[in-house]
Amino acid sequence: MLLQQNPFTCRVQRTDRRAKQLQIISAVAPGTSSENSLRDERALSGSRAGTPGPAGAFVEGQEAEARQQLFGKIAPVYDQLNNLLSLGQHRTWKRMAVKWSGALAGHAAVDLCCGSGDLAFILAEAVGPLGKVTGLDFAAEMLQDADIRQSSLPSLTKRRQSHIRWIQGDAQQLPFENNSFDAATMGYGLRNVASIPKALSELQRVLKPGAKVAVLDFNNSTNPAVDAIQGWALENVVVPMARSYGLGEEYEYLRPSIKRFPTGREQVRLAKEAGFTKAVHYEIGFDLMGVLVATK
Ligand SMILES: C[S@@+](CC[C@H](N)C(=O)[O-])C[C@H]1O[C@@H](n2cnc3c(N)ncnc32)[C@H](O)[C@@H]1O
Repeated sequence: MLLQQNPFTCRVQRTDRRAKQLQIISAVAPGTSSENSLRDERALSGSRAGTPGPAGAFVEGQEAEARQQLFGKIAPVYDQLNNLLSLGQHRTWKRMAVKWSGALAGHAAVDLCCGSGDLAFILAEAVGPLGKVTGLDFAAEMLQDADIRQSSLPSLTKRRQSHIRWIQGDAQQLPFENNSFDAATMGYGLRNVASIPKALSELQRVLKPGAKVAVLDFNNSTNPAVDAIQGWALENVVVPMARSYGLGEEYEYLRPSIKRFPTGREQVRLAKEAGFTKAVHYEIGFDLMGVLVATK
């Protein structure tokens, strides 16, 4: 099976939920060369590539392993902080993304960089009991949370939802056949991958012709007023709140990562370069967030 051929792929199996244990079948191996990723990133963002991040987070030369560790560390409080920091709004934005992905009953859908599974659960509602959802992330701790959340859903909800599987893997080197999925989502993941062009071209490869991906993330707004408000909120609300959870440094990476992230217009260009036939970027949440909708 393809899952075993790809050395980066680990199939996550539920074993003892109460002990929060997941059995990972194959070992995680380095995916893409960081050298190539950096070259891509420099080509993509030009002078922005040098934007410094806080110590240990998303600075040049950082390896995939360090990124995994960062998200592993955030995992225990990730959902709680998301709810607090967005005043619950992230769920509305995620529902919009799922709607725009075109996921329908019976579809096979994938959520990349799934974290603790928010988007995958909403996708599961959309595709229903006859559909299938795959959540992929490279941080084992995030997948453990997703798995625990899934197992604690009320049984009626579980029955109404599709089968969800969690896979540990790299969004830049997907362990799936070409043309596998009817719909895809990615929430706050594209900004975090080492090579955006690679992740987009992998998404394009695994979607069926005509299928769509909706990529939700912070908006790197070109409007100075929006940019100023976003910068103020991150510095004065988000980072201090994260600091109260002992994660100040981990959340300081947000602002530089948003400034390095392509603007909506750049995302549309990158999606087309990756082979998507159509791409549109929507600004939402007072333009603080954005959703790229790309059609294969
Ligand atoms: C900010 S979290 C978003 C989680 C979730 N999608 C959400 O919206 O709540 C970003 C996630 O991307 C994952 N990630 C970053 N780079 C990745 C990569 N190259 N391959 C797979 N997952 C990656 C991290 O482990 C983390 O769980």
